[in-house]
Amino acid sequence: GFTPRIFSGIQPSGGLTLGNYLGALKRFAALQGAGAETIYCIVDLHAITVWQQPEILRARIREAAAAFMAAGVDPAQSILFNQSQVSAHAEMAWLFNTVARVGWMYRMTQFKDKAGKNSENASLGLLAYPALMAADILTYQATAVPVGEDQKQHLELTRDIAAKFNHDYGVTHFPITEPLIEGVATRVMSLRDGSRKMSKSDPSDASRINLTDDADAIAQKIRKARTDAEPLPDRIEDLKDRPEARNLVNIYAALADETPGSVLARFEGQGFGAFKPALAELAVASLSPITRKMAEYMADPAEIDRILGEGAARADAVAQPILNRTKDVMGL
Ligand code: ADP
Ligand code: NA
Repeated sequence: GFTPRIFSGIQPSGGLTLGNYLGALKRFAALQGAGAETIYCIVDLHAITVWQQPEILRARIREAAAAFMAAGVDPAQSILFNQSQVSAHAEMAWLFNTVARVGWMYRMTQFKDKAGKNSENASLGLLAYPALMAADILTYQATAVPVGEDQKQHLELTRDIAAKFNHDYGVTHFPITEPLIEGVATRVMSLRDGSRKMSKSDPSDASRINLTDDADAIAQKIRKARTDAEPLPDRIEDLKDRPEARNLVNIYAALADETPGSVLARFEGQGFGAFKPALAELAVASLSPITRKMAEYMADPAEIDRILGEGAARADAVAQPILNRTKDVMGL
């Protein structure tokens, strides 16, 4: 058996959103101290698969570290670090480039979305992204990965790489990692379009709530969120064909740690004129302490760098022996 170990990461490719908080950070914090080791990473090597302005990237790496800690990830309980500081990730990714098949990569919907029509002009790194993600996870022999719904396909590819490696070399070297896609906020949708996920890379700022937004901005974005004119039903199933309405109810439930059913039990029969102000109040109350703590951390960049440096050393101590054994299995 493998040591129970949880790994996950977030790209510093933009300011973090409510989607990243509910789908990832809040759950990362909740998983601490529950028996498994927790290892959390700011995946800057993933971010550069699309062009990043160096000075902005440097600032966003620190901002992401501040967001992790403000959301409750405790660097004393978890290993918190920046991917490019632990060289085993890039080295393992190369090994996995020889295991993964080209066809597997072309099938990834995120590659198709991000590469767009002119995919011949996408970076080679964008195509190989899932092999690096497999390396992130398997360099720690992680047994479980908490992620949002959008990462499900990439995680399946991680499992495929682990299985093919174990098969090709006749070893049980890598675990077949379990995805932890749980809760009501595994796919927080855009506030402007119920068919798109809320994302830090969406060009429309009104589509998302940023963890750095102030109370007025949060309230205004929720007030202007797209909805419909129908009153709320008493069951979440009855919102099946009303994606914008369902999204707001799910956000409320995730912020309040309630089920959507118990939220609807209170708001049944009411319209968004009543629901939106209640949601805005809850969102501000939940997010403003995080925004405030982020600002406190960011006021001391040297301390953030110290924490990330210490995290990198601890991550390296886990990763390097596993990388060495992997190379040994391959005859390197
Ligand atoms: P983004 O898509 O905002 O660039 P990342 O790719 O860095 O975010 O993803 C970081 C984590 O946040 C992943 O676990 C991802 O599944 C999760 N996540 C991103 N967007 C959402 C969302 N809208 N709802 C729920 N989880 C999300
Ligand atoms: Na994503």
